[in-house]
Amino acid sequence: MRIIRLTPDYKFGSFNCEEPDLNDFLLTDAKEYASRLLAVTYLIESNGDVAAFFSISNDRISLSESDKATWRRIKSAFPHRKHRSDYPAVKIGRLGVDYRYKEQGLGSSILNFVKKAFITNNRTGCCFVTVDALPSAVNFYKLNGFHLLRKSDREKAETIPMYFNLTRLV
Ligand SMILES: CC(C)(COP(=O)(O)OP(=O)(O)OC[C@H]1O[C@@H](n2cnc3c(N)ncnc32)[C@H](O)[C@@H]1OP(=O)(O)O)[C@@H](O)C(=O)NCCC(=O)NCCS
Repeated sequence: MRIIRLTPDYKFGSFNCEEPDLNDFLLTDAKEYASRLLAVTYLIESNGDVAAFFSISNDRISLSESDKATWRRIKSAFPHRKHRSDYPAVKIGRLGVDYRYKEQGLGSSILNFVKKAFITNNRTGCCFVTVDALPSAVNFYKLNGFHLLRKSDREKAETIPMYFNLTRLV
């Protein structure tokens, strides 16, 4: 397997992560998101297939999107003089694993890759990884150390904001 950055001339084969919006994003929109500087997409290739992809953008985590108890927990990772009402973050805007490669640890490996990249190879400060998780993927993120940014009604919400605190790893 290898990880590559999506380029304008990349020729896609088939890809199906069983979420039509995510498939569509990769095959139709991802190149334009890159050219407009909105999101960078990375592909995990295996034997010529796209086994998985993820897209990332700059983000921030802020008090206004959190609840008080969660924000207290977030702030507790920092000394009092560094308490703020927002902190820099990187957002995983899209993440999908092709159905032939699911349940083999690839999704978790991608999250570990992003966590490591933004601790050791970051060009700007970044304390959190954020994601607006599909309700069906919340447990996957929880298993990977992510927390809910606020209490939300999982039945009704289309996506659930979650975060991972990178400062735990340094
Ligand atoms: C969610 C997704 C990225 C997980 O990828 P994956 O490579 O299959 O995940 P992993 O093999 O790393 O799974 C890690 C753990 O999460 C669990 N898990 C995986 N997908 C899950 C899901 N949808 N719901 C609950 N648990 C899940 C696995 O059982 C595994 O648990 P274990 O460590 O106890 O065995 C993949 O199923 C996918 O592409 N789904 C469709 C698109 C999607 O929902 N993307 C997320 C958008 S926010």
